[in-house]
Amino acid sequence: MSEIPTDKITPPEVYFNRRELLRAGILAGSMAGTAALYRLLKARPMAPPETRKLAVAAPARDAANSGFAVDEPLTSFESITSYNNFYEFTTSKMDVARVAANFKTDGWKLEVGGLVKNPQTLSIDELRAISPPEERVYRMRCVEAWSMVIPWAGFSLSKLLEQVEPLPEAKYVAFETLLDPTRMPGQKTSVLEWPYVEGLRLDEARHPLTILATGLYGRELPPQDGAPVRLVVPWKYGFKGIKSIVKITLVADQPVTSWNRYGAEEYGFYANVNPEVDHPRWSQATEQRIGETGRRKTLPFNGYAEQVSHLYDGMDLRVNF
Ligand code: MTE
Repeated sequence: MSEIPTDKITPPEVYFNRRELLRAGILAGSMAGTAALYRLLKARPMAPPETRKLAVAAPARDAANSGFAVDEPLTSFESITSYNNFYEFTTSKMDVARVAANFKTDGWKLEVGGLVKNPQTLSIDELRAISPPEERVYRMRCVEAWSMVIPWAGFSLSKLLEQVEPLPEAKYVAFETLLDPTRMPGQKTSVLEWPYVEGLRLDEARHPLTILATGLYGRELPPQDGAPVRLVVPWKYGFKGIKSIVKITLVADQPVTSWNRYGAEEYGFYANVNPEVDHPRWSQATEQRIGETGRRKTLPFNGYAEQVSHLYDGMDLRVNF
């Protein structure tokens, strides 16, 4: 897709200096740089959206060992909800919350089917009834080289998969976001092909770290973070975390995924966080944690190697990036 401007998936220190901060009138042409952005994000006086509080189960006792919690400062609620990638609304990260503010999710249905014994269509209440939301504090590493630590409320996707009973032929899981340009104005543009689609291998989808999140910071997800339900796969780049899901389909073959279709040489199907495999246009060795100054080293599998590296035994992760 040639119509996408080159700034769409550029590291924020480049992107913001050049465009967003200028547009916001903050730096007015100066080169003060990234630090100003992160101070701005921390200080931004934005009222938290009025989403409902959730009854979230306390973290599991073995949270650290299982990877269900990380011992790093949480990114502020304000940053998590005001710096977003959600192209169905806008490609401008700091505008997503405003553009998505009136997105209504009443009557949402999630269809789960394909190669399964028990296909189901679930309301969000029925989905939450499968397993009460648990707190999962995960690192989130965007392919653009910024990161956050987010306290999600969700449950292992494996529990939903158990309920629908995948057939032996099912090898992958395909996910689809709502397609409704009247409610998602970004879908009137061709910045990506719509609907946004993602996929996992079945064993990745069944891994206990892989969750369907319906909340964060103990509240229902706000629209900009993927209300009412999104995927979170903490050892993969953030673009695998498809938002506002309406359909989950068990399939035999590797499904098409949005960013891979957009640029296969830049965005692999696996998209495991890997500091040794650079993006063709920037390094993946370090990252900017939102709210911090200075950069951190990016960890293999985003710090979840102990839990997930066995899934890729025998695979060349430079080829299957
Ligand atoms: N899902 C949909 N449907 N549309 C999107 O544009 N962006 C992805 C992912 N899921 C995206 C999406 C990208 S690139 C990232 S980094 C994360 O959502 C960002 O999640 P956040 O805004 O909650 O931090």
